[in-house]
Amino acid sequence: MLIRNMTADDLDEVFELETACFSHPWTKNMFAGELKQKTTTYMVAEKNSKIVGYMGMYQAADEGNVTNIAVLPDYRRLGIASALLNSFINLCIDNKLRFLTLEVRKSNTGAISLYKKFGFTEVGLRPKYYDNSEDAVLMTIYFD
Ligand SMILES: CC(C)(COP(=O)(O)OP(=O)(O)OC[C@H]1O[C@@H](n2cnc3c(N)ncnc32)[C@H](O)[C@@H]1OP(=O)(O)O)[C@@H](O)C(=O)NCCC(=O)NCCS
Repeated sequence: MLIRNMTADDLDEVFELETACFSHPWTKNMFAGELKQKTTTYMVAEKNSKIVGYMGMYQAADEGNVTNIAVLPDYRRLGIASALLNSFINLCIDNKLRFLTLEVRKSNTGAISLYKKFGFTEVGLRPKYYDNSEDAVLMTIYFD
């Protein structure tokens, strides 16, 4: 498996993956906009030249915030999200960030298990954060 930075050439494939993973997918334009930001990093996971996962993060001062992470349904439980998270955690440490934080739907127990495995802890709740009024769990991993 290869983990590399996402480029504009990947957008068609990333959008296909996004549509397969989320009921309210980001548009291609949204990804294109993210790639132009200086404070964001997006990486893809490739298997046999196929993009099977991606993850994004933005940096504000010495804080990292995960924008999203997704893996194609047929490629889950193979360690792909873990490989992406590892790459981002290494990037945070290299960039001397203090912590990496994220929001996740309270019902997304699979993702919450993944984050806990990596050392993220639940640090708060954003009530009715999502459009269906679902709460967001705020999770953070500290690097100091
Ligand atoms: C959440 C998601 C990114 C996980 O990707 P993945 O590549 O399957 O994750 P990994 O294989 O690296 O999982 C590592 C560990 O996390 C935990 N985990 C991952 N998915 C899980 C699930 N559905 N249920 C329970 N535990 C899970 C397990 O401990 C797993 O280790 P194991 O397979 O040895 O038991 C993937 O399910 C996905 O794309 N979901 C839809 C999009 C989404 O919800 N993104 C998160 C938004 S906050």
